[in-house]
Amino acid sequence: MCGIFGCILRTGEAASTIHEGLKKLEYRGYDSVGIATIQGRQLFLKKDRGKIDEVHEIHNLDALPGQLGIGHTRWATHGAAYQENAHPHTDCKNQVAVVHNGIIENFVELKAELEELGHTFRSKTDTEVIPHLIEEKLKEGLSLVEAVRETVKRLDGSYAIAVISVKEPDKLVCARKESPLVLGVAEDSLYIASDIPAFLPKTNKSAIIQDGEIAVLSDEGYEIRKTLDWKLVTREPEVIDWAPEMAEKQGYPHFMLKEIHEQPLRLRNTLRLQDQYLELMTTFLDRAGEVFLVACGTSYHACLAASYMFSKVALLATHPVVASEFVEQHGKSVNIDSTLLVVSQSGETADTLAAVESARLRAATVLGLTNIVGSTLTRVARVYISQQSGPEIGVAATKTFTSQLSVLSQLALRLAKKRGKISHVEIENLEEKLEQIPEIVESVILSQEEKVKRLAKKYRGKPCFFFLGRGISSAVALEGRLKLMEIAYLPSLAYPAGESKHGPISLVESGFPVVFVCPKDGTHKTVIGNIMEMKARGASIIVVVEKGDEEIKSLADDYLEVETGLPEVLSPIPFVVPLQLFAYYMAIERECDPDKPRNLAKSVTVK
Ligand code: AGP
Repeated sequence: MCGIFGCILRTGEAASTIHEGLKKLEYRGYDSVGIATIQGRQLFLKKDRGKIDEVHEIHNLDALPGQLGIGHTRWATHGAAYQENAHPHTDCKNQVAVVHNGIIENFVELKAELEELGHTFRSKTDTEVIPHLIEEKLKEGLSLVEAVRETVKRLDGSYAIAVISVKEPDKLVCARKESPLVLGVAEDSLYIASDIPAFLPKTNKSAIIQDGEIAVLSDEGYEIRKTLDWKLVTREPEVIDWAPEMAEKQGYPHFMLKEIHEQPLRLRNTLRLQDQYLELMTTFLDRAGEVFLVACGTSYHACLAASYMFSKVALLATHPVVASEFVEQHGKSVNIDSTLLVVSQSGETADTLAAVESARLRAATVLGLTNIVGSTLTRVARVYISQQSGPEIGVAATKTFTSQLSVLSQLALRLAKKRGKISHVEIENLEEKLEQIPEIVESVILSQEEKVKRLAKKYRGKPCFFFLGRGISSAVALEGRLKLMEIAYLPSLAYPAGESKHGPISLVESGFPVVFVCPKDGTHKTVIGNIMEMKARGASIIVVVEKGDEEIKSLADDYLEVETGLPEVLSPIPFVVPLQLFAYYMAIERECDPDKPRNLAKSVTVK
């Protein structure tokens, strides 16, 4: 997730306005930054790796002439955070500048095609194909907006772009597919940005650019058209009554809630990972003598769920291990035939990195799954995958967890294909269902959020909760419990449901809330038995079930429903969402701050 910004001013300098706008977007990405402006027939550009203040300190981002320009604050997805990978990117002649938020899936073939035509590339990014494609179209005599239109038609994936060119120095052209893009309209200036906060101090009049639309900003105003049929779109700006603070959260009261709602978009991005890295990681897993899945906290729960995925889909036994215990448990046995798949959204968790260090010293292979390109994990891993979740501001991991699950399920699926362990029919079904996950998560949020709010009010006074699940759902139960503990400060227990009768059930008395995670998979029948055990002792039964599961709903005091028909190995992704919302609304009921829970840090860099 990056932040893009552009503006056309009648008075004043664009560069300092862009700099201010980017500062408001810094939460969207902060590993490199750049600004390009046009004055006369000349393009001026400054960019470098580092946070905005650091780059400004070195380069003085305000010292660029002109009243029209674009800027970008980057969250590295393709290509680490180096100067040449920073946006804006330009064409061969430095006459076109582009900033981009999103993922271009077909950039490899486009880049090859352009290199064939003699274009030279300076970066490792997917974005850089865009200015060169525009350059080609301008050479054919197209106008800037026509060149942008023909270019975006060739792009697969997601994009929000802003383009300027010395060929038409009075125009700013932008286009959108999936990644957010909003227009700001003031008396004497026009703005384009990834989020409203970027221009809110300048104007509170905003118009959303929708998917498949192109907008042209000029001194005469703005025009929006449909990319495909070029139909003119009439869209008046609306007044935004958010305070700037609210705007950073896109109107949500907390980053955590915004990030829960962001999951469908992030899960779409997670389905667009670069093939060669997924394939390379699959090859390493296939060759491994033994595989450890190593992480902490929520990332450990993703590893636990992944152990079921690898076992059930690829017939590969893996060992999920809490990172802080790894050295004690396996430090002596790890060897050159061992492979660690290390999961860490921050890529900086000290316990996790300590486990990595110990394993590397014994010649084990380390693979990494992280959300932060350039993090320590990306430097110590043999191969890493960036999960494309965008910055997660809330301390509680939500969107990064479901993205981790998506990547891990893709690896299990690829391994199964490589090993020929499951039929083509099963593979096609899993691939098809994986593609549906973003929409399924969207429907869960839309259909269950109000109900979760009511449940939080109903159970707000309870002193303790049980979270139970069988099979892969035991990982979801653990994650639901962790969320409730860490942001609502509610003592909670989580166990594989079969374990509850081996001791924990002694806690249960009348009205004790027990949350069951029960998709209709192979564990369905046995979970019913566990529910009956709890009911017999007066527990209040809350279930997360598949829509229409009347059998379990009839046993419950309260139920939350998820779309039916998902393969069990994919069920954790939608099934965890009601529990994320439950933890959030319970925190609100208990007047806790969901974004900044006490005693916790987003990245635990101490052992
Ligand atoms: C999860 O909500 C917590 N923030 C915490 O358990 C976190 O998952 C853990 O510290 C691991 O962080 P990492 O993924 O950045 O390594």
